[in-house]
Amino acid sequence: MKSNHSSRNASPLRPAFSGVASFKVENLSIGDDMHPVIHAGRVAVITGAASGIGRAAAREFASLGLKVAIADKNEQELEALGKKLVEQVGEGNVLVVPTDVSNLEQVVSLRDKVYDAWGEVSSFTTSMRGVPWIVQGMRYLDQRRLPLFISINRCQLSQVAVLLNNAGIGIKGTSWEGIDKWREIFDVNLFGVINVQQTFVPRMIHQENQAVIITTGSKQGITNPPGNPAYNASKAAIKSLTESLAYELRERPHNNVTAHLFIPGWTFTGLTGANGAGAEKPRGAWTAEDTVLYMLDKVREGDFYIVVPDNETKREVDQLRIMWGAADIAENRPALSRWHPSYKSLFEEYMREGLAQLE
Ligand SMILES: NC(=O)c1ccc[n+]([C@@H]2O[C@H](COP(=O)([O-])OP(=O)(O)OC[C@H]3O[C@@H](n4cnc5c(N)ncnc54)[C@H](O)[C@@H]3O)[C@@H](O)[C@H]2O)c1
Repeated sequence: MKSNHSSRNASPLRPAFSGVASFKVENLSIGDDMHPVIHAGRVAVITGAASGIGRAAAREFASLGLKVAIADKNEQELEALGKKLVEQVGEGNVLVVPTDVSNLEQVVSLRDKVYDAWGEVSSFTTSMRGVPWIVQGMRYLDQRRLPLFISINRCQLSQVAVLLNNAGIGIKGTSWEGIDKWREIFDVNLFGVINVQQTFVPRMIHQENQAVIITTGSKQGITNPPGNPAYNASKAAIKSLTESLAYELRERPHNNVTAHLFIPGWTFTGLTGANGAGAEKPRGAWTAEDTVLYMLDKVREGDFYIVVPDNETKREVDQLRIMWGAADIAENRPALSRWHPSYKSLFEEYMREGLAQLE
C-alpha cells in the first residue's frame, strides 16, 4: 500500500517540489576578466563604507584599481578608512565624503563631489556645466595638445561605474511597538537607498560607459523570519524597488546600466556584532571580504539576484526556503507557515526531500 506520506506526492498542505526545474535564460553572462565596469580607472561609489560589507567592498575596488568614493555617516571610521586607502592607492584615487544617506541634500552633495572630482564627459557636450571645461581645455590645447587629449579620455573612463547602495541599520521595531524605530530604519534602509538612487541614476543613465547599481537587500526581506518586522519590511521594500529599477533600466533604448539585488548571507560586520572589542567571527558567518568577493563574481556573471551563502546556509537551503515562502501565498497557507507549529514537520520533510533532490 502506498503511504500517504509518500514524499514525492504533492500534499494539499505543501506544493509539489519542483526545485530542479529551471526556466532561466542562460548565457547572459559578461564573463570577462576585463569586465567593462569593474575595471581599473573607473569609479566606484560606496555608501555605508566605514564598516563591514561597504568597507570590504571599498578595499576590494581600490585593489582592483578603481577610484573609490566612500560615504558614511560615521565620520571617524570613514576618515580612518580613507587614510588607509590613500596609502594604498594615492590621494587622487580616493574621495572621502561624510554623508548621511537619509538626508537628500547630503546625498546631492556627495554626487556633486564625485562628478566634480572625476569628471562627467556627457555634460561636456550637453550642458552649461561643460563650458568651463571647454574654456580651460582650449587654453590648455594652445599650450600642449596631448595632455588635453589624455585628460578628456581620463574623464570618459571616470564616470561612475559602480554604485553600491549599501548603508543600512538593524535596529528593532516590532509590529505594534517602536514607531520611532520604524521611522529611523525606513529613513536609512529605504529612503536612504531611494535618495541615492534618485540622485545618481539620472546622471548614470546619460553616461557613455557601462555601469552597475548594486543595492544591498537581505534574505530577511524575502523569507521574512520572525524577529525584526521593521528591518524585514524595509528590506522587502528594497527587493521591490530594485526589481523595478532593473526593469525600468532594461526597457530604456540603448541602456548601459544594470541593477543588481545583493542579498548577503550571515556576514560578520558591525551589524552582527563584529565591531565590539574582542569580538570573534562565529563559525557560521562569512567575513565581509568573502561576501564581497562572491557578490562581485555574480555581478560579473550578470546575475540580478545575488543570494550569498554562508558557513551555515548553503545555496540550496536558501533556494528551498525562498520557494516555501512563495508557496505560502500560492497554496493559501497561514502567514509565515515555516514557523507555524502545524507546519513544522511538513517543512522539515520538504527540506529533507528538497535537499536530497538538489544534491
Ligand atoms: N551583516 C549581515 O549579516 C547582513 C546580512 C544581510 C544584509 N546586510 C546588509 O548589508 C548592508 C551593510 O551592513 P553591514 O552588515 O556591513 O553592517 P555595518 O554596520 O558594518 O555597516 C553599515 C554601515 O552603514 C553606515 N550607516 C548607517 N546609517 C547610515 C546613514 N544614515 N548614512 C550613511 N551611512 C550609514 C554605518 O555607519 C556603517 O558604517 C546593510 O544594508 C545591511 O542591512 C547585512
